[in-house]
Amino acid sequence: MPLEQRPVGKLNRAVIFLGPPGSGKGTQAKMLAGKYGVPHLSTGDMLREHIAKGTPLGLKAKPIMDRGELVPDSVVLKMVAERIERPDCSHGFVFDGFPRTVTQAKYLGELLKRQGFQQPTVIHMVIGYLLLIRRLTGRRVCKKCGAIYNIYDRPPKVEGICDLDGDELYQRPDDREEVIKPRLHAYDKLTAPLVSYYRHLGLLYEVDASKSVAEVEQEICQAVASMLGAH
Ligand code: AP5
Repeated sequence: MPLEQRPVGKLNRAVIFLGPPGSGKGTQAKMLAGKYGVPHLSTGDMLREHIAKGTPLGLKAKPIMDRGELVPDSVVLKMVAERIERPDCSHGFVFDGFPRTVTQAKYLGELLKRQGFQQPTVIHMVIGYLLLIRRLTGRRVCKKCGAIYNIYDRPPKVEGICDLDGDELYQRPDDREEVIKPRLHAYDKLTAPLVSYYRHLGLLYEVDASKSVAEVEQEICQAVASMLGAH
């Protein structure tokens, strides 16, 4: 493994990425999980996997996600509880897109306590809405490895083809302009209250997500390293 890809130390906790659609949660959560050698847990990816496999859960989630609404808490909570009980989560994990409601956050708090983890660290990705539209409409994702590109700001070397494995890139159905609006609305109504919830608990780190990928990454790494040093 190249030196720069080796895990830098033990995380031993849950890190949560909290921010609106397109703020860069997936991009940065993958990076952080790789850096600490822990799983990257994206509830959106898990749900899309269920849809691709045609499971009963996927059949239930698809029309909801296509409308840009949130999947019911009960469905997501069961999926997450099963996932974090697996042995690869024993040294911590990075959540991307979870929790998304106060109910989910409270349940996660109980789940972490039960599994012997301390309180989570929450990275709040702060960004204006105009930039989000550009990021979402321009996003393309590799069908095979899930690598994330942007036709405006982070294009692949060859149009429509993943730099990493040569597979085809696709546009998520919920990245169509008519679905972006309800997604942002769902965020404002149901997820944004988590900012004050976690701030109140003293667990929130604010990051300026409008900067370049490298700059945001640096800010996040510093925040996590200082948090680990402080405990
Ligand atoms: P999910 O898959 O979680 O989507 P999301 O939260 O809407 O977030 P996105 O994946 O759209 O954006 P992101 O913040 O990860 O940004 P990214 O890094 O890709 O959820 C989808 C759906 O599943 C939900 O609508 C809901 O229905 C359901 N769901 C999921 N979890 C749920 C839950 N817990 N409860 C209930 N329902 C749930 O970046 C976006 C683009 O910007 C990319 O093109 C990227 O290359 C580019 N980019 C990133 N950072 C930068 C930067 N710094 N500068 C320039 N470009 C950048």
